[in-house]
Amino acid sequence: MARLISHSDYFVICTAALVLAISCETCASTQPPASFFIFGDSTVDAGNNNYINTIPIMKANYTPYGESYFERPTGRFSDGLVAVDFIAEYAGLPLIPPFLQPSAEFIHGVNFASGGAGVLPETNQGLVIDLQTQIEYFEDVRVSLKQKLGKAKARKLIKKAVYFISIGSNDYLGGYVLGNPQVRIDYNPEQYVAMVIGNLTEKIQLLYRKGGRRFGFLSLCSLGCIPILRDLNPNANKGGCFEDASALAQAHNKALKIVLAKLERQLKGFKYSNYNLYDWLLHRINHPSHYGFKDGIDACCGSGPFGGNFTCGKAPSYQLCDNPKYHVFWDSFHPSQALYEQLGQESLEWAPSHCGTIQHSRTLPCKETLIIADAVVDDH
Ligand SMILES: *[C@@H]1O[C@H](CO)[C@@H](O)[C@H](O)[C@H]1NC(C)=O
Ligand SMILES: *[C@@H]1O[C@H](CO)[C@@H](O)[C@H](O)[C@H]1NC(C)=O
Repeated sequence: MARLISHSDYFVICTAALVLAISCETCASTQPPASFFIFGDSTVDAGNNNYINTIPIMKANYTPYGESYFERPTGRFSDGLVAVDFIAEYAGLPLIPPFLQPSAEFIHGVNFASGGAGVLPETNQGLVIDLQTQIEYFEDVRVSLKQKLGKAKARKLIKKAVYFISIGSNDYLGGYVLGNPQVRIDYNPEQYVAMVIGNLTEKIQLLYRKGGRRFGFLSLCSLGCIPILRDLNPNANKGGCFEDASALAQAHNKALKIVLAKLERQLKGFKYSNYNLYDWLLHRINHPSHYGFKDGIDACCGSGPFGGNFTCGKAPSYQLCDNPKYHVFWDSFHPSQALYEQLGQESLEWAPSHCGTIQHSRTLPCKETLIIADAVVDDH
């Protein structure tokens, strides 16, 4: 069968193929559903930080968080759902529960992500569930799956699952640009990026050794254009994007791209997609009206210039826009649910033209989308 993920330009779109594979397997009555394991930071945290002992800014368990969808806070750093919720929805899965949620049902997968987490253990140390710990929690799940399903079935589930990783922004923001100045003295940007990427590579290899084969990544976005960094931008072009932060994200993305191509060559059966969130989000920031937004710059919820002061829901007074769906950014750091929804949708809709061999439309019945699942799963 033709390889779908054969060229770096195609990684973006083939996210959809990986994700669709989950949904299709759930439709085939003889096959157990594939699982969706999520690792990362606030871009994908579905509420783990509700259950940890941390400082208030690491939690999103107060109004108006969640107002657009749940009408109550859930711990998601969004006015509603986050990216992985939409991906799960479009794949025909229920919302994937946070690992720490008591009595959560893990049959379709687990979300280990933690707002504020970085790749490096020292990023927001002691305040978040770092990536190493997220993987240790995954190990707990793996052990319990073996006990529940037996070794062979558990191994199959682990192999077929999609491992979705969205992390790194906090290493560069809290850990470097806005962090302890000593870090910027000890490491120049190249050295720092190399350290983050070195650690991330080890974590990917670790998940591979534990049986993971199908990986999805979100690249880092143009970090300097998020409202808090526009606000804090010390350079003369105050109000523009904080270019040093965006440059770190670009360096990280470039290095990760090289690492992933290398891992694909080295590790038998390793498959991945790497969504180019950087360019995708920048288009929306710069041309909001092309995408149904009215404002690509200002946070819906926050205070000060650009809503860049991270006070949403916390300070005695903060501004809240009339309708978050017209804003690219919900708060000083995080996109709105409307943006995440487009991210989920587009990753599916781009599939046919770019992946060529795939015939896909969101209205196809499950039987036909199974072809996509087979194409992805059987190509080695
Ligand atoms: C991982 O990060 C630590 C700092 O936490 C650093 O000392 C180490 O060199 C990094 N590892 C790699 C492989 O880059
Ligand atoms: C952010 O808002 C808080 C609470 O209103 C205020 O104390 C603080 O000075 C503000 N910070 C900036 C940088 O504007």
